[in-house]
Amino acid sequence: MTPSTDDLPRHAALKQFPVLDDCLQLGGVLLTRLAERVGRTPFYAYERNHIQSRVELLRHALPPGVHLHYAMKANPMPAVVHLLAGLVDGFDVASAGEMRTALDTGMPPSRVSLAGPGKSSAELRSAVAAGVLVHLESDEEMQRVAAVGELLGITPRVAVRVNPDFELKHAGMKMAGGARQFGVDAVRVPAMLRRLGRMGLEFHGFHLFCGAQNLSAAAICEAQRLCVRLGLELAEFAPSPVRSLNIGGGFGVPYFPGERALDLAAVADGLGATMAMLRREWPDTRLILELGRYLVAEAGIYVCRVIERKQSHGQVFLITDGGMHHHLAASGNFGQVLRKNFPVAIGNRLHGGARETVSVVGPLCTPLDLLADRMELARADVGDLVVVFQSGAYGLTASPTAFLGHPAPLEVLV
Ligand SMILES: Cc1ncc(COP(=O)(O)O)c(C=O)c1O
Repeated sequence: MTPSTDDLPRHAALKQFPVLDDCLQLGGVLLTRLAERVGRTPFYAYERNHIQSRVELLRHALPPGVHLHYAMKANPMPAVVHLLAGLVDGFDVASAGEMRTALDTGMPPSRVSLAGPGKSSAELRSAVAAGVLVHLESDEEMQRVAAVGELLGITPRVAVRVNPDFELKHAGMKMAGGARQFGVDAVRVPAMLRRLGRMGLEFHGFHLFCGAQNLSAAAICEAQRLCVRLGLELAEFAPSPVRSLNIGGGFGVPYFPGERALDLAAVADGLGATMAMLRREWPDTRLILELGRYLVAEAGIYVCRVIERKQSHGQVFLITDGGMHHHLAASGNFGQVLRKNFPVAIGNRLHGGARETVSVVGPLCTPLDLLADRMELARADVGDLVVVFQSGAYGLTASPTAFLGHPAPLEVLV
């Protein structure tokens, strides 16, 4: 039988985690047992080995000397961040809250950078006091950082986040090129660098982040090359040598039927050539890649339980105790234009006997609360466990957990 498109995610899921007696296993634990151990549904579970292997894969594939940073916004669960502290070279944080979690791991502040528009004065004070690298997103922010440094008697460590003129092609989310709230337009950077040199700030380099969720190796390589070239051009105006050049990441993961995993070997090839270009000019500059979802998305699942089977006009609905309030992305409301199903399976009946086409919904009074829209799954009963794969990034903390007052899901690292 030819697999339908809905079978594709099921196959991808089967490849990522072992299956015993038709039940998914995570970290060597059967899902049914893990659910007992967690104590209640819904929950997110992240697999330690999966994260470790992903970092090893990158270390093996990427050219030597590339520094790997984890963008904590993808998954700031403290246990996950602690695990990654021992595996990566630094953290990118997006708030003072994330910065506290990052520093709690023992990661040296010199390996932590704070980026994002609209940093509050309190955040800037904490960041300068901590000694982390502040990515300046505007001239105005530069002045506020300098004032904080003067007030505290500390020289702030800064890098300039540049909004380049080019954009990252094929990115699920574009974050550079044209009018943006992120970074400083490239054309304004030379003048800003001249002012920076007179402000009592310790200049470290540049940060460029062009976009996220890209599955095209060619587009990523092109953006990386352009980022390094722009960094080299802007360095002419810098008050001191460029110690670090953070060229972002944007490595995507396949969520939907028909999507293919990123060709890491092709990315590594392109980056090798880009590194060589950088090394010719600046042998000592640290080249940083900043990755979020690529490190954690595929290591995580979201698990909820079937509460009721319901029929309406010939369609079967599995009503569960989880939904969009816990997993906004899987419901299709986190940046998707056209809703598509995340890979979903019945975790304790992975293949199942009979199969049927069902919609998986949550307990919220809105049709947006949809985890799977007319998908072919194993026939499930009340009490069975629905699993949403590719859920290790932008899950819990990217969801409106307070909406309608249901309990928040738990999280475990296994
Ligand atoms: C500055 C910055 N760094 C890193 C990331 C992480 O992106 P991803 O999780 O897709 O790798 C983002 C995502 O928006 C970002 O804005």
